[in-house]
Amino acid sequence: MDIKITRTQNSKLKNIDFNNIPFGKYTSDHMFVMDYADRQWGNFRIIPYQGFMLDPQSKALQYCQCIFEGMKATMGADGIPRLLRPNLNIDRFNLSAERMCMPEVPYDIFLQALKAIIALEINWIPKAEGSALYVRPTMFATESSLAVTPSDTYTFYIYTGPVQPYFTTPIKLVTEQKLIRAVPGGTGEAKTGGNYAGSLMASQLAKQKGFDQIIWLESPEFHKIQEAGMMNLFFVIGDTVLTPKLTGAVLNGTTRNYFIDILKEKNIKVEIRDIYIDEILEAYKKGNLKEVFGSGTAAVVSHISEITHDNTQMVLPPVEKRIISNMLYNEINGLRAGRIEDKRNWLVPVS
Ligand SMILES: Cc1ncc(COP(=O)(O)O)c(C=O)c1O
Repeated sequence: MDIKITRTQNSKLKNIDFNNIPFGKYTSDHMFVMDYADRQWGNFRIIPYQGFMLDPQSKALQYCQCIFEGMKATMGADGIPRLLRPNLNIDRFNLSAERMCMPEVPYDIFLQALKAIIALEINWIPKAEGSALYVRPTMFATESSLAVTPSDTYTFYIYTGPVQPYFTTPIKLVTEQKLIRAVPGGTGEAKTGGNYAGSLMASQLAKQKGFDQIIWLESPEFHKIQEAGMMNLFFVIGDTVLTPKLTGAVLNGTTRNYFIDILKEKNIKVEIRDIYIDEILEAYKKGNLKEVFGSGTAAVVSHISEITHDNTQMVLPPVEKRIISNMLYNEINGLRAGRIEDKRNWLVPVS
């Protein structure tokens, strides 16, 4: 695969203070782009970060035929950048593509594109532990037509931006019992923009009431737990870790997968099954609910301090007492920083 590289004449790097790089604020100098036409990908290029010219009638704008991924590249102690299990992101991207009737991006092309853009932006990778180069592969439909049919043409691009560790103070959740993010058979398992636009209202309403995020429950009963905002959810009840099973409405989180694998490897009991809010309330009342946390690429672990359901407020133990979530956080950050040996061969060097 030949990638034509056009370098920027005006790097933004000198304006960046690597001690202050909030999540999603800065983008790096270049982006990888390729186009799909006549049933194949071509025109592979890396160009200075810039906007696209979009036809007002493009199917991305009119019908939201667009998907994305989110992953992190980190700098190894040896000066070689690394990706963590990029295959999980590539596979999920292609599942999203299939669901939205978009073309597959072949694995080798995807990985080469990732490596090429990360290698070119090597000076943008922050070195402090927990910080990373956030990488966002995206695909959108470019055909101009009002027909509600899959586009014939697409653009795929990957842009990046440096991010510092995403420390959240423990957050307060409330169950949402009216609005929904996703239903089995819908598009909840795809990373497509419409899911996120559709979730904004519930988040805003929860914030107005003093909560940080919501717990999505499955309609129409609103008993079964799906996830929290844009994170997968984990509960520690007694000595067992529980996480909702994938029903088609829950995103197959990469961090969720890392956690499940680590827990199994450490012989910690994990149950991946339907979880109902009533059983969480019951465990809480019996004093068995030890930890609740969200998993996601941005923060790795988000500790939950409180959950409100109807008139019950469940107040959870302090973060210092949380053995499982602190262990998982340390495993992932330690692995990325090279402090913990990569016995599982999860890290892929960007050579
Ligand atoms: C709806 C939703 N659930 C869960 C996650 C967590 O997924 P991951 O661990 O791959 O970041 C995300 C973030 O991408 C998300 O958008």
